[in-house]
Amino acid sequence: MKDILDQLEERRDQARLGGGQARIDRQHKNGKLTARERLDVLLDPDSFEEYDMFVAHRSVDFGMEKQKFPGDGVVTGWGTINGRQVYVFAQDFTVLGGSVSETHGQKICKIMDMAMQNGAPVIGLNDSGGARIQEGVDSLAAYGEVFQRNIEASGVIPQISVIMGPCAGGAVYSPAMTDFIFMVRDSSYMFVTGPDVVKTVTNETVTAEELGGASTHTAKSSVADAAFENDVEALAEVRRLVDLLPLNNREKPPVRPSFDAHDRIDNSLDTLIPDNPNTPYDMKELITKLADEGDFFEMQEAYAKNILTGFIRLEGRTVGVVANQPMVLAGCIDIAASRKAARFVRFCDAFEIPLLTLVDVPGFLPGTSQEWNGVIKHGAKLLYAYGEATVPKVTVITRKAYGGAYDVMASKHIRSDINYAWPTAEIAVMGAKGAVEIIFRNEIGDAEAIAARTADYEEKFATPFKAAEKGFIDEVIMPHSTRRRITRAFASLRGKQQKMPWKKHNNIPL
Ligand code: HXC
Repeated sequence: MKDILDQLEERRDQARLGGGQARIDRQHKNGKLTARERLDVLLDPDSFEEYDMFVAHRSVDFGMEKQKFPGDGVVTGWGTINGRQVYVFAQDFTVLGGSVSETHGQKICKIMDMAMQNGAPVIGLNDSGGARIQEGVDSLAAYGEVFQRNIEASGVIPQISVIMGPCAGGAVYSPAMTDFIFMVRDSSYMFVTGPDVVKTVTNETVTAEELGGASTHTAKSSVADAAFENDVEALAEVRRLVDLLPLNNREKPPVRPSFDAHDRIDNSLDTLIPDNPNTPYDMKELITKLADEGDFFEMQEAYAKNILTGFIRLEGRTVGVVANQPMVLAGCIDIAASRKAARFVRFCDAFEIPLLTLVDVPGFLPGTSQEWNGVIKHGAKLLYAYGEATVPKVTVITRKAYGGAYDVMASKHIRSDINYAWPTAEIAVMGAKGAVEIIFRNEIGDAEAIAARTADYEEKFATPFKAAEKGFIDEVIMPHSTRRRITRAFASLRGKQQKMPWKKHNNIPL
């Protein structure tokens, strides 16, 4: 009996070695942790339950029968993050480059199925050369099975991907269908195909970093939601994110103890808005001043900086924030901002996370580049996302809310629940100068008349009161009391129930 027990330990030790010490050393030399070390950082101590440690591939082509590694290049199972259950898979680059074989794919599918049945998130730590080349179509079939599960799980359980090595081909399409993608700077890459093939096909010379590194995907393509310095930081941030999310779409996000008074007054907000309406200010300052303990988990920070998206807590409860950023493009909505914010709004709605919208928007960004690239269709995404969202929605207009962008930014008309404005709000079809130059075009030569018309327009429309008279604004509030107002607003909406008409699914302008 003792021998048998010892044999089990020996087998386990062998499985834990993955592709062997030399390859582990290489992984470390490249500044990367191994799959198991990553899981140690990600999960609560001693919480990991591993499955399928001895699964091996079945391939016999290209001498593969002689290259068997227990576990087949992926470590799978479940564990906890601050006591809450999550399913995990961590690809082991030391085993055949973490490539996906038939059995490797089956291991991932098994924990995805369990996650769906038990209503817990799936976190994938991706470090893979893509489809296992020696297995051909079996490997593609395995990917397809994972993709299908990604799609079915979308909107049911949160799916988080961390890219922790070179991910090519199929290895990027599964993460692409998950809710959030984090990358590690200088050691992770995502591309459909790498620089060598790019050179052959398009004759472009490009480095892996330029083609698909963290800066490319966080700032240019928006494929990734955030990038971090190293494996440990990325995994610590996943823990922080999971803490903000519900385990599935039938549960509410967790409530954490808060030591920040819900009615905290912040007098500095009374002077946040500059006297000159064209002077920018930092909307992030408002977000952090409203949040519990000033904590803002920003998503897509480096992309479409004219709109801010991320999570805060109010009274310990998760709230998704979307806010125009007057510091960049004056806070205009462009294609990138609309796509970024729409996806965030839809995530929050799918997972019952209430939405706070902070508005200072002069309109949609005009111009041929925007029009030719489809600002009409892409701009409609954010409008659509807000209008279909049935979670509690609270809006605060701090300054400009002009034109179509006023409607889009969670206005009353697209079923926002509680809409506040600061006294500095200007709710109008457009800015006074532009408006006067259109409706009084024949007076343009007469500077005095134009000045008088502009002053008149400003007095009438550069305020929140016209909208408040109509009930489009529920209350004009003091900036210093905003935190108290919005926490009470969200508290009053906890019982909200709103149904959309039955449909198979909607047809958001993609
Ligand atoms: C089998 C693979 C592999 C793969 C890497 N390896 N990729 N084995 N299938 N796809 C093995 C290598 O042979 C090597 O084995 C070990 O993993 C480490 O690889 P290296 O090349 O030494 O590492 P590195 O220099 O860091 O380069 C990593 C890499 C490169 C950039 C990922 O290996 C690479 O380009 N691989 C191929 C990528 C690819 O084209 N994948 C198929 C995509 S098609 P040893 O024994 O030496 O340690 C696809 C289709 C799905 O995914 C589409 C669905 C929509």
